[in-house]
Amino acid sequence: MKIREFGVEIWMNAYETRCRYNLAETCVESLKVEQLLEIAGLKETILEELLPMKLTYGAIEGSDRLRDAVASLYATRKREDIIITHGAIGANALVHETLVEPGDRVISVLPTYQQHYSIPESYGADVRILRLREENGFLPDLDELKRLAGDRTKLIAINNPNNPTGSLMDGACLREIAAIADRCGAYVLCDEVYRGIDQEGTGFTESMTDLYDRGISTGSMSKSYSLAGLRLGWIAGPRELIHAVAIHRDYNTISVGMLDDFFAAIALEHREAVLARSRRITQGNLAILDAWVAKEPTISWLKPRSGTTALLKYAFDLPSRDFCVRLLESKGVMFTPGSVLDMEGYVRIGYANNHAVLKEGLAKTSEFLAEMRP
Ligand SMILES: Cc1ncc(COP(=O)(O)O)c(C=O)c1O
Repeated sequence: MKIREFGVEIWMNAYETRCRYNLAETCVESLKVEQLLEIAGLKETILEELLPMKLTYGAIEGSDRLRDAVASLYATRKREDIIITHGAIGANALVHETLVEPGDRVISVLPTYQQHYSIPESYGADVRILRLREENGFLPDLDELKRLAGDRTKLIAINNPNNPTGSLMDGACLREIAAIADRCGAYVLCDEVYRGIDQEGTGFTESMTDLYDRGISTGSMSKSYSLAGLRLGWIAGPRELIHAVAIHRDYNTISVGMLDDFFAAIALEHREAVLARSRRITQGNLAILDAWVAKEPTISWLKPRSGTTALLKYAFDLPSRDFCVRLLESKGVMFTPGSVLDMEGYVRIGYANNHAVLKEGLAKTSEFLAEMRP
C-alpha cells in the first residue's frame, strides 16, 4: 500500500545528528534517568524494584499502575478507558487503522502531525483539510468545519496544543467541534501530545475525551514529560473504541516494554514536579525567543500559547528548504522547513530544548539573517 513520505521525519533523520544547534527539537529538553529518579526521590532505592523484575511481555494493554496514572490526567476516564501504545505515533496510527475505511470522510486540520491526513489518505478515505490560517490565530474556522462535516464523516482529527503553530483551542472551541461531530455521528481524535505546558494558567487545557462521548485523546511521555526515550504513549477514549483498538493492536504491538511502562508510571506519579520543570523551560525559553523575534526585522510570527514550537515567517524570497539548508551549512543551526509541514513560506522552531543551545542558535541565526539582507 502506498503512503506519502512523512516530510518532517525525513528532514529530522537527515540532519538531526549533523547540526550544532538543534532548534528543530520538539521535546522539552529530555531528562536523564538520574534526573527522573531525583525528582521521584527514588535514586537510592530504585534497584530494589528493578532487579527482581522478570523481563516478560508484561501486562499486555499496559500495567494497571500505569493505566491508573494515565487515567488521572482525565476528568472522566478510568483504567479501562486507557490503552498503552508505542508513543503517540503508535496511538494515532492505531486510531486511524481502527476507524477509517475506504470512502469514509476524514477531516484533518493542517498544519499538524502528518499522520492525521496521510494515513487516512493511504486507506482510500475522502480526506478534507481544515486549514489553520494565521489571520485566524491558527485556529479552525468552525463554519468551514460545519460545511465539511457531512453524513459520511467518520473522523475529525485535531491537535491541541497544535504542532507546529503553538496555537491552543480553549474548552469552548473544543465543545463546538464536539457538537459539530455529534451532529454527523463522527469521532473526534484530538492529538494532545503537548498537553500540560500551556503558557498560562495551570498548563492544562481540557481534554477532548472528557467533553464528548466519541472523543478520543492521544498523549505520550515524549514532549511535555521530556521522556521520548521511553517510546510510550496512550489512547484515552470510549470503552468500545478501546476494545476495537485492542483487536488491531494485537497484530502490531503485543505490549510496550516493561521498563518503559515502569518509568512512565513513576514519571506520571510525579507529574507535578516533572511538568513544573517543563513549564519553567518553555516559559523561560519563549521569553528569550519573543525578545529575539522583536529585534529581527525580517522575522514575524504569531506568538505560541502552548506546546514547544512556533512558526516563523521570513521576509526573503526563498523556498523554506533552501533557507534551512543554507542556515545549517553556514551556521550549524537546524530549523524545520515549512515545506515538510505543507506550510511553505515559514520555518518551524522548537524552543524548548536546552537554554544555552537556544540562545547560541538564535545568535547564529541573527548573523545569518544579517548576511541575507541586501
Ligand atoms: C503532534 C504530534 N503527535 C505525535 C507525535 C509523536 O510523538 P511520540 O514521540 O509520542 O510518538 C509528535 C512528535 O513529534 C507530534 O508532534
